[in-house]
Amino acid sequence: MKKLYAVIGNPIGHSMSPIMHNDLFSFYQIDASYLPFQIKSEDLKDAVDGFKAIGIGGFNVTVPHKTAIIPLLDEVDELAASIGAVNTVVNENGRLKGYNTDGPGFLKGLQAFMSGAASKKILLIGAGGAARAIYFTLAMEKPEAIDIANRTVAKAQRLIDDCPYSVKSEACTLEEAGRKLGEYDLVVQTTSIGMAPKIADQPLDLSNIKKHSHVCDIIYNPLETKLLQDASNRGANVQNGIDMFVYQGALAFEKWTGIFPDVERMRENVLKQLGGLHVNR
Ligand code: ATR
Repeated sequence: MKKLYAVIGNPIGHSMSPIMHNDLFSFYQIDASYLPFQIKSEDLKDAVDGFKAIGIGGFNVTVPHKTAIIPLLDEVDELAASIGAVNTVVNENGRLKGYNTDGPGFLKGLQAFMSGAASKKILLIGAGGAARAIYFTLAMEKPEAIDIANRTVAKAQRLIDDCPYSVKSEACTLEEAGRKLGEYDLVVQTTSIGMAPKIADQPLDLSNIKKHSHVCDIIYNPLETKLLQDASNRGANVQNGIDMFVYQGALAFEKWTGIFPDVERMRENVLKQLGGLHVNR
């Protein structure tokens, strides 16, 4: 019988996940469909119960339900529980188990470019939900340090205090981070600054950037943010948010089917949807 997979959020109309996963199901000849459902917060419990009743194979969860879904699931894995957000649910023999593939997806995308985060001095820009998933995941990789720069420094400090994995970290302002930028091997930008339509915005001054450092922006619209253009002009290696998006989806697909899919195929598919002509790699 055909299996159902889904993504739930509000709004959900612009999600690229259905095209990406449906293409993979057909490519790997799996009899399944992946559909988007716009679910209001007050309907979340009914939606989860309904999914369980129909024996859904699994689903993705996006804004604004990533945290609210946790108490509605039968089980949540350790990383997702510590992050406090679930983006992937798997139906494991009738029990719905939640995972977070955002942080691990970011890490896998990073590893496709460089050796990873071990022993690196890292600057994380932003302290919201995406920063939290990335910070907790990178903290487990034994980096030299991960400092967090944020407009609201108290939020960066809260992230550091919340992290259950041991890592050397300091919270600072965006201006302070700009001043000591030469210390960092890896810079990860997780805020919405520079996202379309406000593409002229940039979170910090890159004058002091270390040559040959690696700069990631989790934004993929535009494919090259002002920050990445500036970093690239100053001799840094740059990586946009396509990889994190594709790898979080690849890890979800693997949890559902046991197949780690062809990420190049996924990347091309996503770029086609974005109408993109080039990618930063
Ligand atoms: P997400 O869950 O997508 O990460 P979020 O939780 O709303 O989004 O977090 C947004 C992040 O972008 C925060 O770090 C926020 O800074 P504050 O904690 O100070 O609010 C940052 N951010 C968003 N717009 C910003 C702006 N115009 N200038 C500086 N930082 C901004």
